[in-house]
Formats: sequence, C-alpha cells, structure tokens
Amino acid sequence: MRIDVVTLFPAIFDSYLTQSLLHKAIVRGLVAIERHDLRAWAEDSPHHKVDDKPFGGGPGMLIQVEPTVACVREVETMHPTPARRILLTPQGKRFDQRLAEDLAGSDRLLLLCGRYEGFDQRVQDILEPEEISVGDFVLNGGEVAAMTIIDAVVRLLPGVLGDENSSRDDSFSRGNRLLEFPQYTRPREFEGHSVPEVLLSGDHAAIAAWRAEQTQLRTQARRQDLLGEEPNG
Ligand code: ADE
Repeated sequence: MRIDVVTLFPAIFDSYLTQSLLHKAIVRGLVAIERHDLRAWAEDSPHHKVDDKPFGGGPGMLIQVEPTVACVREVETMHPTPARRILLTPQGKRFDQRLAEDLAGSDRLLLLCGRYEGFDQRVQDILEPEEISVGDFVLNGGEVAAMTIIDAVVRLLPGVLGDENSSRDDSFSRGNRLLEFPQYTRPREFEGHSVPEVLLSGDHAAIAAWRAEQTQLRTQARRQDLLGEEPNG
C-alpha cells in the first residue's frame, strides 16, 4: 500500500513513522508513506501562505482551494496507482474498524489534513474526497486523525503483525465485532488479584468458552450497542 499525506505540518509525523510497528512495516516495504507539504504549492511564493479569511466574516482562516487542488492533482501523478481520496474533518463519516478494514483493501490512500477552520468548500466540491471523522470532537488539525487512520489500517495489511491471527480477536474486528476478553500474564498473583484458574488449566476448549463468555459479558456491560451487529459485516 502507498499512503500520501497532504499536510501543512509534515514534521508532526516524524517520530510516529520512525518507531515500532509502522517503522518496521515501512522498512519491510509493506507500506510506503509520503508526506507532502501543502505550502510547496502556495501561489504566494515568499511567504508560502495557503490560508485566507472566510468570505462573509467569521473567526479563523480557511485553507485555500488553488494550492490544495494543485497539490492533490500533482501528488496523484507521482505514482501510477489511483488514490482513494480522503479528507479528515469532524463533519465526515465516523471512522471505525469496518472502515479500517475497507481502507486496508485499497492500494493507495491520499489523506488530506485540514487546519484552522478547514478547507474552502470548493476543495470538497472539486476533488470529491471521502470525508472521514475520527470522532465527535474537534482536533487542532487532521494530522492526528490521519495518524489514527494510518495506524488502524497498516496493522491490518498482510505481514505487518507478527502472528497473522493477532488482529482477529481484537475488539470490533471481523468475525467478532465485540469487545475483546481480558488477558493476563505473569505473575499468577499480584496484591491479592489472581489470574482466573481456567487460563492456567491447559484445557483449550474451556479457555475458548471462558473467553467467549467474557467477550459477551464485557460487551453487555460496556457497549450494548454492539450486540445486535452482524459479526462478519
Ligand atoms: N480534524 C479536526 N477534528 C477532526 C476529527 N474529529 N476527525 C477528523 N479530522 C479532524
């Protein structure tokens, strides 16, 4: 997979892309992530200004349509694979595990990160990106939302997780769609809290049954809204 990120703050991604799972996936060639500084497409060359005041008044600044459209069009020509255009905005469709699975099936994503009060509406009208929100709250920009999407999608790509099955039992995942069961490691006892006996029994059928029950109980207690959902949808 190739992911192009258009942003006014490419350095925000520096540490994130050079650590842990993401870094390994990049080094192993499972994903290529390219950042593009929108200011490089600014018409105003000495100051690289890409924002302006909204017509009609109101607080804050908007990212302008000309540099954004020029940037997206040029970035798309940098690689032959067609890109799925995504614009990060609190007004978009809510991101979830199903959408992460859907995006993981694409060969190329182009993530457009907003700042300030967002983009001139003509960016959406002309480029027709899918608009995605990571939750009902307002971030300072789309970069953290883009990292959220990259994080959730890249771990689903074949070969990224060490054990091919290790995303299978995750909360919300395909074949489950419920909350994950509790897990324990050593020591067996800590400050009076013991590991459930069944997990030490070596009885794989009993362990599987206990985990399935815990998944139901936990979801019932915390997220009843998930219980009616189709597990493989
Ligand atoms: N930009 C600002 N807030 C956001 C959100 N909640 N999701 C996606 N992009 C955003």
